[in-house]
Amino acid sequence: MSNPETLKQLVYISKPTTEMPVSEVRALLVKARINNHFKDITGILLFDGETFLQVLEGPEDAVMPLFNQISQDSRHAQVETLFERCVAERDFDDWAMGLAHIDRSQMRSLPGLVDLNKARLILSANETANELVNSIKFDIMPERVPA
Ligand SMILES: Cc1cc2nc3c(=O)[nH]c(=O)nc-3n(C[C@H](O)[C@H](O)[C@H](O)COP(=O)(O)O)c2cc1C
Repeated sequence: MSNPETLKQLVYISKPTTEMPVSEVRALLVKARINNHFKDITGILLFDGETFLQVLEGPEDAVMPLFNQISQDSRHAQVETLFERCVAERDFDDWAMGLAHIDRSQMRSLPGLVDLNKARLILSANETANELVNSIKFDIMPERVPA
């Protein structure tokens, strides 16, 4: 049974199914942010042109169904959960879903992401998961969302 009080943080990576300009990702997030606002979901989406990395956080009973829905979206594939954990507080509470368009080298320089095929294993250590989230939180500047 999921507890509505439990805060979940889930991080996954995926690949766009067709070449996706960042303008299209921005457009997708306009609606996503409205949905997320009503579901009390926060987080950030990193995109380097060939890989998405999304942090989803919020009540467990909202995060898990949203993630199921997102994973079935035909705009991306190879969806792989890197980690999923309960947290005491949110890391991205200012963002109904921030977007950061970064380059490939910046994505690969994030803790645990040098080799995406091994990322899941490496990030199964809570300490490394914390390093990744902190690096995203403090080293990456999401785009400003126009009011
Ligand atoms: C990489 C990626 C990230 C997404 N992130 C979100 C999100 O944070 N919130 C959301 O509601 N939809 C997100 N979506 C869109 C969902 O897959 C889905 O299209 C949307 O939730 C459907 O909303 P609707 O039922 O209101 O039409 C994302 C899609 C992709 C491809």
